[in-house]
Amino acid sequence: MSNRANTNIVVCDDFDAASRHVASRIANAIATTPKIVLGLATGSTPVGTYRELVHLHHEGKLSFANVTTFNLDEYIGLGPEHPQSFRSFMQQQLFDHVNVDARRTHVPNGLADNPATEGKIYEDSIVAAGGIDLQLLGIGSNGHIAFNEPGSPRDSRTRAVDLTPSTVEANSRFFDSIDDVPKLAITMGIGTIMEAKQIILMACGQGKAEAVARSIEGSVDESIPASHLQLHGDVTYVLDIQAASKLSAIDTIVNRDV
Ligand code: GLP
Repeated sequence: MSNRANTNIVVCDDFDAASRHVASRIANAIATTPKIVLGLATGSTPVGTYRELVHLHHEGKLSFANVTTFNLDEYIGLGPEHPQSFRSFMQQQLFDHVNVDARRTHVPNGLADNPATEGKIYEDSIVAAGGIDLQLLGIGSNGHIAFNEPGSPRDSRTRAVDLTPSTVEANSRFFDSIDDVPKLAITMGIGTIMEAKQIILMACGQGKAEAVARSIEGSVDESIPASHLQLHGDVTYVLDIQAASKLSAIDTIVNRDV
């Protein structure tokens, strides 16, 4: 049985509206708590959100001066300078364009000699920063969050993981060839993510509709990692109409007030 009643759902007209909505939630959170600790995600989904945040910063409406960030994951084997690393992605999409202090931006080290040690260091850094206040998530079409693939335990922590063939294929669009996509990653665990005080999961497009519906309305099950979020007390799904299309009662929750 699902805990849908625990989940806030906002359905926006399209990707741009969803991006504006998520950005305004993040901007409001920074305005309320300037020393906020943000958990950040990579992928196509948050690109519009980061664009909006950069825009708000350039308009003088948003300062990252006291913000700390922790990214969810990184490919094992790619260094920070590698163009397809998640560190590069974050620099290009957000960090290089706002006034965040580089020393307060954290992405797992994909070149760590010992990923288990790196996982522990990363967890300790999150704790030392006071824990994550607001975590932004995307979702894989198989229901993964960060790189927690189906089967990831609810109490999993930051660790090295194998990527499923479907995730490698999905992410191959960012690489010249599928053979170049790393097969291993270091990722925050489900247990790590569940400790964030507040979570926003953003999903857009028909390809996410099944995973979104099963995550919100299915049972909590390791085969759909995002379903664990039903057990978190403060999760908001921000969806476009396509990603929401397999939810029941969608017409009662459409929110155009972005
Ligand atoms: C990746 C990331 C996730 C992301 C997901 C969806 O593999 N590790 O953090 O949420 O895939 O990506 P996209 O937003 O490009 O669909």
